Amino acid sequence: MNLFKPARLLPCALALILLMSACSHEDPNSPVYKRKQVFKEMLRTSQSMRDMLKGAKTWDAKTFAANADKLQQLASQPWPYFVAPDQNDHSKTDAKAAIWTHPQDFHAAQDKLRDNVTQLKDVAATGDADKIRPRFSAMEESCTACHKAFREF
Ligand code: HEC
Repeated sequence: MNLFKPARLLPCALALILLMSACSHEDPNSPVYKRKQVFKEMLRTSQSMRDMLKGAKTWDAKTFAANADKLQQLASQPWPYFVAPDQNDHSKTDAKAAIWTHPQDFHAAQDKLRDNVTQLKDVAATGDADKIRPRFSAMEESCTACHKAFREF
């Protein structure tokens, strides 16, 4: 097999160009980009908390509580960036149309996350991992529930 045949290289070059143009469409000022950045930070924060609860990271009640505070702040940040879809924004999005057709349900899912994060924050202040664990799972379930209804996979 000769990989350097022009006939083989051409599709690769085309794929590369497509890939690069897809990336250049990700505009850091677009609302889609901004909400995804917040979600990524939410995931990083909650993952680090989960690692501690599972023992993959050393338990540190102070750091855990600080992350719970951070998560509470993050939990209200993505929503203003869910503006009506803009044809000129080519950022890749997994947002389902249901967000705009069922706004009340979408808001309810946001409130659920906020409630759960607040309860998690309160229990995190006790520093008691056994008490924290069920509240942490409840918080994660509110992420999953919203994704099932409103995020494309
Ligand atoms: C009220 C609904 C809702 C809740 C609650 C929610 N999400 Fe999401 N999440 C979404 C939607 C909608 C998207 C798709 C955004 C897009 O692609 O435009 C998303 C996307 C994401 C992404 C992918 C971002 C990317 O780069 O494409 C991550 C990671 C994520 N959420 C993590 C979380 C975590 C962690 C939680 C809980 C702490 C959470 N989400 C709670 C609705 C929600």
